[in-house]
Amino acid sequence: MKIALVGYGKMGHMIETCAKAMGHEVVATIDVVSKDASNLVAAGDYAAVAEAVKNSGADGVIEFSHPTAVLGNLNALIPLGLPVVCGTTGWAKSEAEIEKLCASSNGTCMRSSNFSIGVNMFYKIVEEAAKIMSEYSEYDVAVWEAHHNQKADSPSGTALEVARRVMNGNKSKTEMVFDAFHEKPKANELHVSSTRVGSVPGTHTVFFDSPADSIELTHRARSREGFARGSVVALEKLAAKIAAGSLSKGKLYGMSDLF
Ligand SMILES: NC(=O)c1ccc[n+]([C@@H]2O[C@H](COP(=O)([O-])OP(=O)(O)OC[C@H]3O[C@@H](n4cnc5c(N)ncnc54)[C@H](O)[C@@H]3O)[C@@H](O)[C@H]2O)c1
Repeated sequence: MKIALVGYGKMGHMIETCAKAMGHEVVATIDVVSKDASNLVAAGDYAAVAEAVKNSGADGVIEFSHPTAVLGNLNALIPLGLPVVCGTTGWAKSEAEIEKLCASSNGTCMRSSNFSIGVNMFYKIVEEAAKIMSEYSEYDVAVWEAHHNQKADSPSGTALEVARRVMNGNKSKTEMVFDAFHEKPKANELHVSSTRVGSVPGTHTVFFDSPADSIELTHRARSREGFARGSVVALEKLAAKIAAGSLSKGKLYGMSDLF
């Protein structure tokens, strides 16, 4: 495929390396700061981002930018009609708006807070474990995540999805509470806590804890490569499934649509 990368930071560079190794051509790298990007645009000029993608002749887009830029980028990119894979986190509250835009513009977007294949399997394991453990009321459950100190949003999008999977499995947990909340958690509250330190690429743990023992399920990313490879696989599969008619245009998809 001919791929345009919007956001040419740590992830953008890693995706370029993976995409090339997987036999794709990276026809544009678009950023507001990175001097080695093929297209430098002014911050906030989303029309220029879309124009650069259009001029590149790309047949797919991968967007990994910043929580403050992602909605502007998606609003400009989705109407181009190319499959757009979006890895930027921190915009879960605006998903309904992007879903509407996909429908009204017949554009296609796949978003995931975590494109690693391992994490997507971890989600399934967590949901099943939460279901099994919820039969034993002595076991409480909590979610913890750690990321590098340059990460702009907290909790991580992955931690929120892990927490949603816990709540799918354990119906007694109906609310999430985050970090310091200065009171005892209520029985229906699921504590989700975050640590920002050093250069951790991403660690997520689910604790099941009883007076007698503790079970910890952990997914630990070793590098950004798993996310980068996964985002290229997502674009390949999204484009192929649309071409084959098993997925349709005009929708916002998630990784679960591929597995
Ligand atoms: N979904 C996943 O699997 C996954 C994995 C890792 C990181 N992330 C997320 O991806 C995002 C990027 O992470 P990163 O580590 O590459 O960050 P980074 O800060 O290294 O890079 C982000 C780049 O986006 C650029 N940018 C900002 N606004 C832009 C705009 N309007 N147009 C084009 N470029 C713009 C910045 O200048 C920067 O170079 C973050 O939200 C992070 O949480 C997601």
